[in-house]
Amino acid sequence: MKNEEDRQKNTANRMAGKPVGNKGRTAYKPAGKTVSATGKDVKKKHGKQDFKAGNMLYPLPAVMVSCALPGEKPNIITLAWAGTICSDPAMVSISVRPSRYSYDLIKKSGEFVINLVTEDLLKACDWCGVKSGRDHDKFAEQGLTPFVSEYSKVPGILESPVNIYCKVKEIVAIGSHDMFIGEVKGITVDESLMSGSGRFDLNAAKLIAYSHGEYFALGKKLGSFGYSVKKR
Ligand SMILES: Cc1cc2nc3c(=O)[nH]c(=O)nc-3n(C[C@H](O)[C@H](O)[C@H](O)COP(=O)(O)O)c2cc1C
Repeated sequence: MKNEEDRQKNTANRMAGKPVGNKGRTAYKPAGKTVSATGKDVKKKHGKQDFKAGNMLYPLPAVMVSCALPGEKPNIITLAWAGTICSDPAMVSISVRPSRYSYDLIKKSGEFVINLVTEDLLKACDWCGVKSGRDHDKFAEQGLTPFVSEYSKVPGILESPVNIYCKVKEIVAIGSHDMFIGEVKGITVDESLMSGSGRFDLNAAKLIAYSHGEYFALGKKLGSFGYSVKKR
């Protein structure tokens, strides 16, 4: 019924030369050239081709997530499927395959710690992503130090410059991976990254990025938040 009313209103508006559409909006007319490229041959003409639909959101941080059950050896799992999902409250997500040794540790303890990865930590990060805590003591074998703060019973990694302590709020079963939604309960950072004036110079930490199966050092600074609209 509503649709019919809208249709009649639109027809009346069109005849009166008024804007047509929901809430009086006019149809979008592109200011410049728009390319429509459906079909293999047309795409090719525009220098495009189809790619298997899958995970292609890169670059990402690769992070070392520490996890532990009370009284047991702590473990580290390397994750690339990790992200920020809310500012207030500060919330993050990590996606973990149920087959991982770490999965039960995170699920049962209800806590995890995201540790950011520097160039110095990269080899340990990769190693923790190909070896399992079922067969290894990852902290001991990689010479890493469990660092227990007041924010969590789960230790962070002392050698990482940023430790983000999270409490699991929800577990969402999606498919291959379950997504753990975590609330950030506290953060510890290396004092060496704090300037005298109290500014936190995170980008001096030499963090790494992960892109399509490869690790990268971050390159030169290109701008800062909002620089495109700042007056010189
Ligand atoms: C760069 C990188 C990214 C990874 N990302 C994920 C991820 O997002 N989720 C996941 O379940 N496994 C991921 N893995 C695989 C796990 O880290 C790996 O299976 C690890 O051995 C599991 O350790 P665990 O058995 O001690 O839990 C990643 C591995 C690497 C090297």
